[in-house]
Amino acid sequence: ADARATGAQLLAWYDRHHRSLPWRLPPARIAAGERPDPYRVWLSEIMLQQTTVQAVKPYFETFTSRWPSVRALAGAPGDDIMKVWAGLGYYSRARNLKKCAEAVVERFGGEFPADLDLLKSLPGIGDYTAAAIAAIAFDRPVAVVDGNVERVATRLRSIATPLPAAKPQIRAFVQSILPAARPGDFAQATMDLGATICTPRRPACALCPVNGDCLAFLGDEPERFPVKAPK
Ligand code: ADE
Repeated sequence: ADARATGAQLLAWYDRHHRSLPWRLPPARIAAGERPDPYRVWLSEIMLQQTTVQAVKPYFETFTSRWPSVRALAGAPGDDIMKVWAGLGYYSRARNLKKCAEAVVERFGGEFPADLDLLKSLPGIGDYTAAAIAAIAFDRPVAVVDGNVERVATRLRSIATPLPAAKPQIRAFVQSILPAARPGDFAQATMDLGATICTPRRPACALCPVNGDCLAFLGDEPERFPVKAPK
């Protein structure tokens, strides 16, 4: 099938099999024109950077009930934020949270910007997080590439270039299959596929909605991808 069909099939699968997570709006509500709160998207993406979905869930609930908006978080004492973060690890993330919240309030009147470069100018927001916020919260057609997405993409295309050299090829491929109408759902569909079916070991290719388009599956060696550069 062509690249467009691959993207559409991933979305159709996501409509039926998406994980229901506290920072997400289900695809039916997205289709009805609702958008997730950029504050919640930002907070979840920062938490998910070095921490699993299961571990993040209760922290996300605690944070958002205690500080329901970026303004509330900007006004919180740094010590309180550190206490509630305790256990999640990688504490520079927590320190940057308050700095970023303050910057959003001071520079943007409490509204996250949608522009990639403005997002990247905020403390703690790098290429990945900026792309995730732009796509998921603001429907911008940008490729969101995390480790899951790298695995899905290198398998679909049997990209044998080792990581990290393969990154530009991966990004270009993901951009080429991205359905312009639903970039946020597409990003999360690819993440869910990578987390539940296109797993590092023993992927469940028989259940995969895009196995007919997957060069690694058709070549019978999905576990070979992604190829990592020798250390
Ligand atoms: N990992 C990083 N971002 C995620 C998201 N929005 N949903 C699920 N897993 C993720």
